Amino acid sequence: MAEVHLSKIVKRYGSLEVVHGIDLEVAHNEFVVLVGPSGCGKSTTLRMIAGLEEISGGELKIGDRVVNSLPPRSRNISMVFQSYALYPHMTVRENLGFGLKIAGMTPEDIKPRVDEAAGILGLESFMDRLPANLSGGQRQRVAMGRAIVRHPDVFLFDEPLSNLDAKLRGQMRVEIKKLHQRVKTTVIYVTHDQVEAMTLADRIVIMRDGYVEQVGTPTEVFENPVNTFVAGFIGSPPMNQLDGVVENGAARLNDGTLVPLPEDIAARLSDGQKVVVGFRPDAFAPKGHSLHPEDRSIEISLPVVISEPLGTETIIFTEFGGKEVQAKMLDPRPLNDGETLTFTLDLERLHVFDGETGKSLRA
Ligand SMILES: Nc1ncnc2c1ncn2[C@@H]1O[C@H](COP(=O)(O)OP(=O)(O)OP(=O)(O)O)[C@@H](O)[C@H]1O
Ligand SMILES: [Mg+2]
Repeated sequence: MAEVHLSKIVKRYGSLEVVHGIDLEVAHNEFVVLVGPSGCGKSTTLRMIAGLEEISGGELKIGDRVVNSLPPRSRNISMVFQSYALYPHMTVRENLGFGLKIAGMTPEDIKPRVDEAAGILGLESFMDRLPANLSGGQRQRVAMGRAIVRHPDVFLFDEPLSNLDAKLRGQMRVEIKKLHQRVKTTVIYVTHDQVEAMTLADRIVIMRDGYVEQVGTPTEVFENPVNTFVAGFIGSPPMNQLDGVVENGAARLNDGTLVPLPEDIAARLSDGQKVVVGFRPDAFAPKGHSLHPEDRSIEISLPVVISEPLGTETIIFTEFGGKEVQAKMLDPRPLNDGETLTFTLDLERLHVFDGETGKSLRA
């Protein structure tokens, strides 16, 4: 069993603290993704788990063992990095087996492990090629194969796909997901790409400035973001967030629009209080082109600033509440810039945040 337990994990470089006491429980065979903007401490956290970075405070357990002071090789983990430098003068087969050879395994023991990994990753027909004669995606698979042959308890990935172009990244994302179905292992995966996080993770850990902001399944963090940061980070296009002031159970936006707030939330607010009203682009659609047309909503006439036709939907940029917001038009028709449309704002799917703290006001 290889659960990973982080308890009050701290990282300091000299007097500079960059990870501030993180708690996290990763279950056996769970796929957990750490996501957050550049510099938030994802790699540092992963490297502490790997043993490549000293832990300044707190306790790290893998399975039942406290591993704080164990060297990387004694932790039974495998790590795949963004820059996965393969040995250029070795064939794929030699690259896959090299780590095992160094660890003192015999060729007879290495061969079945290498063949198994090659089978899992579909590398069988490339085994005698040099890395220079492989595509980027094939090289990436060899890098993963090197990690798989070691039969680790825990896989650690640090942005393994960010060197690949968008299309290949999408394909490899699916491969990694299938790989996890076949080779059930505990995985901790770092990315700054929220789409990658949403598609791969059993649970997502959203980090900011060395703190964990929220932990949850992709659905939980999407539907119930705990604050404006998570709301803006998860989801594409991002959630629209408009400043408002409470007035009689509604929020008065900067352009004067009154948006009725959910009753349970309004009951806890007093007039004059600052709030942020959030709604995803698909809760804000031209009339007749929305996801839930039967829902309670208000109508607002607004001009199209620009539109992005994406085929099955069109993203519309418009100005509302004193800000640029994005709307999603399903079953779209061609639009002209400057054209005025009636938008429906779905009141059932409003998010309301405290205007001072940014915290969600959902019960
Ligand atoms: N050796 C170091 N000395 C001082 N500060 C460091 C050192 N290594 C990292 N940091 C700082 O620690 C913070 C976290 O860095 P980290 O590499 O973990 O970020 P990240 O979330 O992985 O970002 P990215 O998405 O850019 O890879 C950053 O502010 C970084 O500048
Ligand atoms: Mg990093």
